Amino acid sequence: MIRATHHFPKGFLWGTATSSHQVEGDNRSNDWWAWEAEPGKILGGHRSGMACDWWGGRWEEDLDRAADAGQNAHRLSVEWSRIEQEPGRWDPAALDFYEQIVQGALDRGLTPVVSLHHFSNPVWFLDQGGWTKPGSVEHFDRFTAKVVERLKDKVGLWVTINEPNVYAYNAYSSGLFPPGEEDLQKTILVMANMTRAHAAAYRTIHAIQPEAMVGMAHHYRGMRPAHPKNPLDRLVAGLRSSAFNDPIPGVLRDGIFRILWHRKRIPEARGTQDFFGLNYYTEEEVAFSPNHPTELFGQGGFPAQADLSSTGFIANEPLGFWRALNWAHGFRLPIYVTENGAEDPYGGFRPRYLAGHIRQLWRATNLSWQVCGYFHWTLVDNFEWERGWSQRWGLWALDPEIQLRTKRPGADFYAEICRENGLSTDMVARYAPEALPQLFPVDDPGQLAAGASF
Ligand code: FCB
Repeated sequence: MIRATHHFPKGFLWGTATSSHQVEGDNRSNDWWAWEAEPGKILGGHRSGMACDWWGGRWEEDLDRAADAGQNAHRLSVEWSRIEQEPGRWDPAALDFYEQIVQGALDRGLTPVVSLHHFSNPVWFLDQGGWTKPGSVEHFDRFTAKVVERLKDKVGLWVTINEPNVYAYNAYSSGLFPPGEEDLQKTILVMANMTRAHAAAYRTIHAIQPEAMVGMAHHYRGMRPAHPKNPLDRLVAGLRSSAFNDPIPGVLRDGIFRILWHRKRIPEARGTQDFFGLNYYTEEEVAFSPNHPTELFGQGGFPAQADLSSTGFIANEPLGFWRALNWAHGFRLPIYVTENGAEDPYGGFRPRYLAGHIRQLWRATNLSWQVCGYFHWTLVDNFEWERGWSQRWGLWALDPEIQLRTKRPGADFYAEICRENGLSTDMVARYAPEALPQLFPVDDPGQLAAGASF
């Protein structure tokens, strides 16, 4: 067997990503808490409950785990509904809590990346119409100023809003997130308002902390035609991808918000990203389907031979990650992979997913692109939105009832990657031997000829 190590650039950030509602527990003042209590909203009737009990202090032991596992960064989010439980009433204890976590990260050698919004909203905010109202921009801006004033000496990397496309679509089209509406006009409006809120927050952060780096975390879902020779499949795959992936990064680049038939100028959004945050999980195939008008006449799915995660939620598509990185690079900004990972309760899938994706990430670092960091989703199993506890994304397993953490095999693999700042054949041979022939195919020239995935 050949031996090789793929080295990453010096100073590369290696971490995991979490979000407040998913890990803190006892988040009673946000829209999710009430939503979870409604029958039928969460798979299996699950509740976030104590989640990973970060609010109760277990963030300390989890950040110890991250640091002991060789990570040098952590992405977390602050919970708006704790900091501003009622409009204009700020809770200094909640701000203290986040300052402690961020300091705790720094003390452990973890560079903090802080998201200001990650899906959950204060109840009062949603009651006022949430992101469908123009007032949302000012509310979010005021909240941003409060947080940044407090954390500016400790945090240099800010994500304003996590996955506005996923949020808008799930809350206002598919109805999976609160408030559970199915209204395309509102979906578009929410994306536009989140864009405006981001632009305002971008300026506010820079006014308070000129040297800060500010971006968004963009969810990119790869979409390729099910039958590349079929022009209708090509058409709908392109249409769906451009409606889902492109509008928000596009308006942040040039100030024009384009989605389907809709075109609107939001000039204040132009040039309001210092880095590009990329969340990538999978790529799907799209086939033309006259029966799916609301899904733009396309039906997404995974091919029969796909390597699927435990619940079939994602397929292991490392080349889709490569395409996603190419797409992100099109915006000509430094790139941070703000999320990537797999749901895998037993631990047999994550290592080969990780190996393939880190390999593609390495390819990108070898070009003249600035790829600066990677945040694996996630550190410890946490509350997975409408899918409750049915999906397990952690490097560590969690039994939420007794708060017991158990390391999965992927944790040691990722730790070696972080410590080495690289990926070697030796690591792949030990943790994901099944991926070795595909990732390092030079032993057998026949495989190269057969078109192995680089
Ligand atoms: C992303 C979300 C994150 C988590 C992962 C699995 O879309 O940002 O909170 O749910 O998916």
